Amino acid sequence: METLTISGNSKQEKYASLLPQVQAVMDSSVDIIANMANMAAMLHETFGFWWTGFYRVIGNELILGPFQGPLACTRIAYGRGVCGTAWKERHTLVVPDVEQFPGHIACSSASRSEIVVPVFQNNEVIAVLDIDSAELNTFDETDAEYLERMVTLLS
Ligand code: SME
Repeated sequence: METLTISGNSKQEKYASLLPQVQAVMDSSVDIIANMANMAAMLHETFGFWWTGFYRVIGNELILGPFQGPLACTRIAYGRGVCGTAWKERHTLVVPDVEQFPGHIACSSASRSEIVVPVFQNNEVIAVLDIDSAELNTFDETDAEYLERMVTLLS
């Protein structure tokens, strides 16, 4: 597959048409970084987010992984920022306004809202998917539900 074909106008329809295409591209014969790279690219292209990417758990911190968008912080400590908190709490965090999230790490001042979805392998968080929007209130339960399904394709 070389191009994405996204049908529908609603967020739900877009995710529903994107999900099987991401599934088709995931390749179990290559490492997780390659698959994260394509997943980030496909999400970013479909929705035009500000920043879409992964941080991987390496030792006791999160390290920047494959992403699309402006440059970002390379290290995030356990329990710090939205990413480190999602890792610690082991669940998705939807942040409608990053300025209201205590300890939010501003990699980019243009980021206004954010969603972070943990990636599990053998019941351990091995990475987080982090998506930033330049607008407030971009993410909701629909994003959480589809993105949680999508990241299961990585393991
Ligand atoms: N805002 C994130 C840091 C990562 S950047 O947004 C890419 C956080 O608070 O964890």
